Amino acid sequence: MAFKLIDLPYEDTALEPAVSAETLSFHHGKHHKTYIDKTNAAIAGTELDGKPLEDVIKAARGSNQGLFNNAAQSWNHGFYWHSLAGAETSPSEELSAMIADAFGSTDELKKQLQERGAGHFASGWVWLAEKGGKLSIEETHDGDTLADQGFNPLLTIDVWEHAYYLDHRNARPKYLEAVTKDKLNWSFASENLARGTAWVYPG
Ligand SMILES: [Fe+2]
Repeated sequence: MAFKLIDLPYEDTALEPAVSAETLSFHHGKHHKTYIDKTNAAIAGTELDGKPLEDVIKAARGSNQGLFNNAAQSWNHGFYWHSLAGAETSPSEELSAMIADAFGSTDELKKQLQERGAGHFASGWVWLAEKGGKLSIEETHDGDTLADQGFNPLLTIDVWEHAYYLDHRNARPKYLEAVTKDKLNWSFASENLARGTAWVYPG
């Protein structure tokens, strides 16, 4: 069974002005779709056909870079759409306590996400993740993912240029500031934390 391009969980104008409908139309409708299509084409008729996306990522890591890139990017983008929200959300009590413990405050966490995202060289992803009961900010390069690395990813922000160039040109810090200001989906992060295992790409 082929993987599907999941629908955006909000209207395409919901993230404005941080992320415009035009950006979403390309980022979701073209970039994410291409990663899905290429993953499906690469696994068609192989033993990975019909396996969950997480299994495809694990199987391809270190052995098939082309498939890995497309499968991991398919997962990362699905996770990213849910990491953002058009409506105001807030962290659960459990997540709030862990944020206070690890970063001091949500504002400080946002500041550190902005700094890590802005400082990340070239394309990649910045993550809020949990491992062993502790929160941390992680970075992955290019199409790499935290999906299969023993973390429970809570949120991610895409720092590839295609995520922000139409709206903010080369000003990645402006995109990060706008996204972290009021577009992070703390409800999604709280659900991921409460579940205790990594999110699974809907199939
Ligand atoms: Fe992207």
